[in-house]
Amino acid sequence: MPETNNRSKLMFNIILFGPPGSGKGTQSEKLIEKYGLKHLSTGDLLRTEIAAQTPLGIEAKAIMDKGILVPDDVVVGMIKNALEKNKGVNGFLFDGFPRTEAQAIALDNLLQENNTEIGVVLALEVSEEELIKRLLNRGLTSGRSDDTNEAVIKARIEEYHKKTTVVADHYNKSAKVLHVKGEGSVEEIFAALSAAIDERKK
Ligand code: AP5
Repeated sequence: MPETNNRSKLMFNIILFGPPGSGKGTQSEKLIEKYGLKHLSTGDLLRTEIAAQTPLGIEAKAIMDKGILVPDDVVVGMIKNALEKNKGVNGFLFDGFPRTEAQAIALDNLLQENNTEIGVVLALEVSEEELIKRLLNRGLTSGRSDDTNEAVIKARIEEYHKKTTVVADHYNKSAKVLHVKGEGSVEEIFAALSAAIDERKK
């Protein structure tokens, strides 16, 4: 058996799940440092393409500015490339991916090909009122065009309810989802997420 196969058995992969503005990006930064994971955010990957003005980025920007999801094959392709480029890491922290059932199935298959799987899905829970407040506030300084307009923020939240909540159902079938309160201080939420990971890693 090749050494990489044995090594990947030891990987611990996390999905940080939650609606737009629930704190996935904020908490990812802290979790990857604590647990030595590779951060994979499809939103960040898409924004890198937008900044470089690639054809994919130009197409994605028009979709993202409406608050709807880019096609599954685009994001699955980006994740596939990222997995290939990062062999030998301790594990991945997926942020903002998977966002549809088709993406979840594709991810399960890609991880299986790499002899690994999702260890836990951490679902951040935040009220809609708080999400809108956070994103409008970030829109004042972030330069993210999808944060500046309340109608687009509401469309993003609606898209989450319509297409993304089913992802939690997908992983609930194998009892992988843990719900964590996403309101309170960043440190309190980080402590709750860390406790949930430590429990699952035992
Ligand atoms: P993406 O970049 O994934 O954005 P999102 O899911 O809308 O999430 P955000 O980055 O806005 O929020 P977050 O949960 O990371 O919270 P954050 O920590 O930043 O996606 C953008 C678009 O790309 C999508 O709409 C879609 O078009 C496309 N896309 C991406 N992935 C895709 C996929 N897989 N399939 C198809 N399309 C895809 O925090 C938000 C704000 O709150 C910050 O200002 C932060 O400082 C603040 N904050 C954080 N924690 C707290 C706290 N505890 N208290 C108070 N404020 C807090």
